Amino acid sequence: MIYLDNAATSWPKPPEVLKAMTDVLEHAGGNPGRSGHRLSIAAARVIYDTREEIARFLGISDPLRVIFTGNATHAINLALKGILRPGDHVVTSSIEHNAVMRPLRSLEKQGIHLSMVPCTRDGRLDVRDVEMAIKSTTRLIVVAHASNVVGTISPVAEIASIAHQAGALLLVDAAQTAGAIAIDMKAMGIDLLAFTGHKELQGPPGIGGLVIGDNVDVSKIEPLMRGGTGSRSESEEQPDDLPDKFESGTANLVGIAGLGAGLRWIMDRGIDEIRDHMKKLGQTLIDGLSAISEVKVYGALDPERSVGIVSFTVTGKHVSEIGLRLDEEYEVLSRVGLHCAPAAHKTIGSFPEGAVRLAPGFFTTMDDIREAIQAISKVVRS
Ligand SMILES: Cc1ncc(COP(=O)(O)O)c(C=O)c1O
Repeated sequence: MIYLDNAATSWPKPPEVLKAMTDVLEHAGGNPGRSGHRLSIAAARVIYDTREEIARFLGISDPLRVIFTGNATHAINLALKGILRPGDHVVTSSIEHNAVMRPLRSLEKQGIHLSMVPCTRDGRLDVRDVEMAIKSTTRLIVVAHASNVVGTISPVAEIASIAHQAGALLLVDAAQTAGAIAIDMKAMGIDLLAFTGHKELQGPPGIGGLVIGDNVDVSKIEPLMRGGTGSRSESEEQPDDLPDKFESGTANLVGIAGLGAGLRWIMDRGIDEIRDHMKKLGQTLIDGLSAISEVKVYGALDPERSVGIVSFTVTGKHVSEIGLRLDEEYEVLSRVGLHCAPAAHKTIGSFPEGAVRLAPGFFTTMDDIREAIQAISKVVRS
């Protein structure tokens, strides 16, 4: 089987991740931050260590500004709904995932004004267009660090300076880049970053986070949920302390342990080695697909400017037929359709049918890519 659906979720997971998840239940299975006994303290330590590792990995100083959530969608909702108020203006791009689009469309109904900056057909966001969209009421810019449809990387550092000149914040949806390319929030000027644990960070599903930059005023961000935190239990009001203000209810200890192991696995290999491997696979994939005359490949067609995601369509064939035949006849696993990003498909010109998306991962080999290309050329021509 050749698994090329790592943009949906990475698979297989490193064995260290699976081990950390069972180990934590066996040896540190108390409720973190609740009881004072050793199992509770051991669980809290696993969580704190992971917070610290994420803070270091993403370039912020204060680990308490790493807020654990269920996934990137949850983190994006927390940021958007926590920051935006009626009358505020928000700028986004036309390649966003529905994790950004749907909460924004809902907020629009509550009096938030939205500008959607069009990207080019290869998924590129021009910073001058972002600058032109800014208004005096712009409170937030929210962009995907990389498109989940074509992989194109957005110039987030330049967008950050535009945001800051306007007195606005930048929220980056790093669902497709955290663990895939080096991110230094401080150096890049990213104020808030949403990540998900189950993609390139190699963790399990059900864990993600919102990382709040050291200079962001958290008193201006409302929690999405309120409830028990294990702290200040005498009060019926949500505490203001971090991370408790934004983390109510029992934490996903198993997910956090797996995420921590995924992070350490990445750091052991080095993010540059991972990126190099993905660039080589991406180039071979682009070259191989481009050589099939019936295939149209979308995106920048340049692994330097994208993460390892390649989408294509085939003249005269429906994408669902291609995906099904690749799976059933050749055991090549892809994802077809609109990838939860209808605006992105409108932008690249593949709406409403969508495309076939191939997303290699760290465990994908060059032979896998060559075999997948052969399988695609056979499916295309029969
Ligand atoms: C760009 C982008 N943003 C957000 C998400 C949402 O991630 P999750 O489903 O883990 O919340 C995804 C998932 O595919 C994505 O690709």
